[in-house]
Amino acid sequence: MRSTRQLSPIVLALEPDNYLRSRALAQAPAATVPVTVSPEAAEHIPADNGSVDAVVASLVLCSVVDQAAVLAEIRRVLRPGGTLAYYEHVRSERRVLAMAEDLLTPAWQRVAGGCHPNRDMLSAITAAGFTVGDNQRFGFAVHPLVPPVAHILGRATSPGPA
Ligand SMILES: C[S@@+](CC[C@H](N)C(=O)[O-])C[C@H]1O[C@@H](n2cnc3c(N)ncnc32)[C@H](O)[C@@H]1O
Repeated sequence: MRSTRQLSPIVLALEPDNYLRSRALAQAPAATVPVTVSPEAAEHIPADNGSVDAVVASLVLCSVVDQAAVLAEIRRVLRPGGTLAYYEHVRSERRVLAMAEDLLTPAWQRVAGGCHPNRDMLSAITAAGFTVGDNQRFGFAVHPLVPPVAHILGRATSPGPA
């Protein structure tokens, strides 16, 4: 017999930056589901192997020090068939723009909290063993005077812990 009992989702939000974590802590009580805000970094997600249904990465894989290690950690905690939902700015497919991003990255990292404008996130997600499902790639400009930057928005499925 199938149970009709609904399980409430539990959200664990990781934010190592003190200021941004204080903003998240202030907003968490207003959420419609219980949200626990933790100072842990994504390299050490406080969750058991294969215990998580979905991970959301929004403009974070650009900023982590070791992107491959973080993707491996996300895969460790996701159950087989679990979802990695992502929204990230990524390396341009235009060679000249990608070279400009490579030149900009060392300085940009220092002033923008470790952000790398030149990362090919989709390849990294695939290399970590995920199967990319629907993926949209589009240009987005934060200001009319700033050129659009390539972004990806989509979902990938985890095979479960390696
Ligand atoms: C560009 S900000 C994006 C903020 C927010 N996620 C958003 O979508 O607006 C990059 C974020 O990545 C976080 N971050 C950097 N390194 C991290 C790590 N190792 N683990 C988890 N979060 C990290 C920063 O603290 C910051 O909140």
